[in-house]
Amino acid sequence: MPLRPAEAGLAGLFLSFEGIDGSGKSTQARRLAEALRAEGRSVTLTREPGGSPGAEEIRRLVLEGTADRWSAETEILLFTAARRDHLEKTIRPALARGDVVICDRFADSTRVFQGLTRGDLTATVDRLHDLMIGTEPDLTLLIDLDPAEGLARATSRQGAEMRFEDMGLGFQTRVREGFLALAKKHQRFRVINGAAPPDQVAAAIRQTIATALA
Ligand code: TYD
Repeated sequence: MPLRPAEAGLAGLFLSFEGIDGSGKSTQARRLAEALRAEGRSVTLTREPGGSPGAEEIRRLVLEGTADRWSAETEILLFTAARRDHLEKTIRPALARGDVVICDRFADSTRVFQGLTRGDLTATVDRLHDLMIGTEPDLTLLIDLDPAEGLARATSRQGAEMRFEDMGLGFQTRVREGFLALAKKHQRFRVINGAAPPDQVAAAIRQTIATALA
C-alpha cells in the first residue's frame, strides 16, 4: 500500500509507534532507529510527551502525581501544548532536513488515552488536533499486546511516571481496543504482534517498513 505523499515542503519520512503501556514500542523504536542509521539514513528518534525542552517540562506535569491529578479535558490541552512545541522545535526541522523521524507515541495516543477512556471526548481531541497540530505520521506501527501482559511489564519497571499504569487493567483494555479501532480506520496503520520475542518483533517491523517504502 503506498504511503501518502510527504507533507508539503518536507522531505523526510514521519513514523510513529503506538501501543499500550509495556507493549515494547520504546525498545522497538530504538532498534529501528539503530537499524536505519546502520543503513546510512539520518534518523531523529524522539518521544511524546516530550521531545523538546519545553515539552519535556510538560511531560513531568502529566505523568507524575496521582491518577486524578488532571481531568481528561485538562490533559488534552497539556498533551496538545507539548505536541505543538515538539512539532515546532524538533519534528518539522528534522523532516525539513530530510530525516526519518521516529516518534514514540504521537496524536493517536491522545485520541485513545484522553479521547476514549474516560467518556467520549473524541470530537474535542479531533478539533484541537485540527486547530493546533494538523500533521499525521506517514506510517504508524501499532505494537499490539494483551493488556495483562503489558501491565505486568510496565509495573515491573516502576518509577515516578506511573499515572496511567495506575489506572489499571480495565483502562489498559480500553486503550488496546481504542488503538485497534483506529488501526481499522486509517490506512497509515500497521499492526505488529508484540507478544513475539523482541528479535521477531524487530524483524516484522523492518519487513513492514521495507514493504511500505517499496
Ligand atoms: P510513554 O512514555 O510512551 O510510556 P511507556 O513507555 O510506558 O509506554 O507514555 C507515557 C504515558 O503517557 C503513557 O501511559 C501514555 C500517556 N499518554 C497519553 O495519555 N496521551 C498522550 O497524548 C501521550 C503522548 C501519552
